Amino acid sequence: MTDQPDDLPPDGPALDGLLLDLAVDLARRAGDHVRALREAGVRVAATKSSPTDVVTAADQASEHLIVSGLLAARPDDGVLGEEGGERPGGSGIRWLVDPIDGTVNYLYGLPQYAVSIAAERDGQAVVGVVYNPASGEMFTARRGQGARWHRPGGDPDGVPIRCSALTRLDRALVATGFGYAPERRAAQAEVVRHLLPEVRDIRRFGSAALDLCFAAMGRFDAYFEQGAQAWDLGAGGLVATEAGMVVSGLRGRPAGPDLAVAAPPALHGPLCARLAELDADNTG
Ligand code: IPD
Ligand code: CA
Repeated sequence: MTDQPDDLPPDGPALDGLLLDLAVDLARRAGDHVRALREAGVRVAATKSSPTDVVTAADQASEHLIVSGLLAARPDDGVLGEEGGERPGGSGIRWLVDPIDGTVNYLYGLPQYAVSIAAERDGQAVVGVVYNPASGEMFTARRGQGARWHRPGGDPDGVPIRCSALTRLDRALVATGFGYAPERRAAQAEVVRHLLPEVRDIRRFGSAALDLCFAAMGRFDAYFEQGAQAWDLGAGGLVATEAGMVVSGLRGRPAGPDLAVAAPPALHGPLCARLAELDADNTG
């Protein structure tokens, strides 16, 4: 709680609390709606970058529910949604919305998909929520306040999470993902061909947001991916950072579509060095 008079707008930390409550509510509502739609069958509404890059009617319904809820509560905020594009705002807050991260898993009935919502204040992620309606797990983070794991039937406030303390790349369980374009995949396969014999193993679960959250609680040691977008990385990236991971790109760049790497501090340098040797940020 802050000591502000009621007539002042909330300051940074108090505002972040309100943003997180809003994001949690909308992620849960959208996720539960999407899960209910899945039980009635999946309808592919469109394809995007390739014939295998699908948008389902549930992606569209989820984004509509989230964006209309955000704008009803905070009409001056900006929103960048995966399916709806950019809507500029004037408040200094921008929302990053992935209505279903792991759409191919959703299409096939695999329980590894999530609703991902982050808020940036002045360009910096300040809150993030990743909700998997199939498992009921939710991951939340507030900048400077740590990351939390909320499991069904558990403490509604969740429990704090920390990333692994691993230091050796050759013992690391590393998650990654692939883009949809065949040319990019061929280059990504080359990176994996070299890295696979040098680590404990590699996992490709199909949701970047959940990959980052799993890494944040030690279910993976590290994650990297080329081609992940702001809506894939926003919430999960904050969860990972707040759980103690270093999240970046290569060669001093921030995490972004060129490359996102998340690793515990001692593993981050060696993993980035190897990925730079393999030109993992240059896969097309
Ligand atoms: C995809 C997933 C996948 C990653 C792809 C993303 P979508 O998001 O996060 O794990 O490898 O790069 O595009 O298409 O399911 O929202
Ligand atoms: Ca998506």
